[in-house]
Amino acid sequence: MSPQGTGERSRLTIDYRNSMADAVGEQHGVSDAMLDEIAPEVAAQHERLVAEHEAGGQRWMDLPSDTGLVEEIEAFAAEARGRYRDFILVGIGGSSLGAIATVQALAHPYRNLLSDERRGGPRFFVLDNPDPEKVAATLATVDLPNTLVNVVTKSGQTAETMANFLAARQALEAAVGRERAREQIVATTDPKVGLLRALADEEGYRTFPVPPGVDGRMTVLSAVGMLPAALCGCDIGGLLAGARAMRASTESGDVRRNLAYLLAAISILADTRLGKSILVTMPYADALFGLSDWFRQLWAESLGKKLSLDNEVVFTGQTPIKALGAIDQHSQIQLYTEGPNDKLISLIGVDAYRAEVTIEEAPAGAPELDYLKGAELGQLLRREQHATAWALTEAQRPNFTMSVPTIDAAILGEFFYLYELQTVMGGALLNVNPFGQPGVEAGKNATYALMGRKGYEDLREELTATDGAGERHRWGGGRPPPPHPRE
Ligand code: PA5
Repeated sequence: MSPQGTGERSRLTIDYRNSMADAVGEQHGVSDAMLDEIAPEVAAQHERLVAEHEAGGQRWMDLPSDTGLVEEIEAFAAEARGRYRDFILVGIGGSSLGAIATVQALAHPYRNLLSDERRGGPRFFVLDNPDPEKVAATLATVDLPNTLVNVVTKSGQTAETMANFLAARQALEAAVGRERAREQIVATTDPKVGLLRALADEEGYRTFPVPPGVDGRMTVLSAVGMLPAALCGCDIGGLLAGARAMRASTESGDVRRNLAYLLAAISILADTRLGKSILVTMPYADALFGLSDWFRQLWAESLGKKLSLDNEVVFTGQTPIKALGAIDQHSQIQLYTEGPNDKLISLIGVDAYRAEVTIEEAPAGAPELDYLKGAELGQLLRREQHATAWALTEAQRPNFTMSVPTIDAAILGEFFYLYELQTVMGGALLNVNPFGQPGVEAGKNATYALMGRKGYEDLREELTATDGAGERHRWGGGRPPPPHPRE
């Protein structure tokens, strides 16, 4: 699984012909005139981003260069890989999706089932959802005396994360006692502030920083994503080198010469001018499904905004969907091809898979299967991807294809940086702030209130006051439907 990419040059390619009006018609495709029209705005926003970065803003752009931190992470991970049998990542949203995507892309698909020697590091478990069934099962499955727990939260207080962490900490303490449990906990959080920071300082946990000034969903290239990846044996140096390569190839302000800006422009034009309110990301590789899940959060939380930068109510954002080729050809493609023409579809193809399976023989009694004889599964998947792009285009469904030579750490790093820059430019073109997530915070506060957290009493009262209302809209589970209101 060692990376082929040196990270010096981007190896990602795009073919966006099928998203253009020439291919799918003026009603559905982006035209050259539209790109010409948006180009000055893209160039101006590029200048703004560069200036803000030079003035100390846009800190996410610096993460690929933080090599000092990488050395520290690698040193810690090298020791921990030899010491622990199991590793639990506790975090949610931007604090876990990047690590999940990375391990899924770069590690063996059945890594947890491999022998200790072959696996080369602890088994990997994630506690994101506070689902008691999964949490209980995880804590009962791991070898607690040989388990490392990494709790990750930027704010240091997210209810799901802190609840899962307290459950894991309690299980560790019951297994090995308080003193040893402290040594088995690593906290990744703000370097200075927050509940978890205070707890970590008090208990003496080893800590790694969540970079200040960077939103959770953009922290994958910091300790948030890199520490779990290194613990699972992923090449984090290669990842960051790939991100740097993408950064170096996206320095132009020209929408046609900067892949991130081109993707942002096509997506936003498709959404706002052509009614493609849905953006599907469909890799033809199981290993990249986690990447589309990570991107889904990035695009949704960054662009789904009520207010514009001018404080006007805009309710904007393009809904991101994750799909997987070829599985979703047998689930979603019918809808994408014949249902509402409201989607822009991004296919991701792999030129050479890291393993290949060749069909040597077709049974003599089934001549209909002869066409599979001598075929490679990778070839089948690639052809299915081409066939899907063709069928979508025939049905006037705009789509584009990104291709990678193979899946490795550097390519994944390229994707992370590319999608982040695309998203930031997407926000600029929509005239919304891509940072912050007021809608998520509202739900977080309501949870604190309902759980009885101090300081949230008024909100609790407001929330519980609605209880009992609307009884006539609730039935089932043995209760008969209420009488019709006109009865
Ligand atoms: O992108 C974001 O900021 C959010 O998705 C957060 O990552 C998520 O809500 C978890 O927050 P925290 O890291 O503070 O626990």
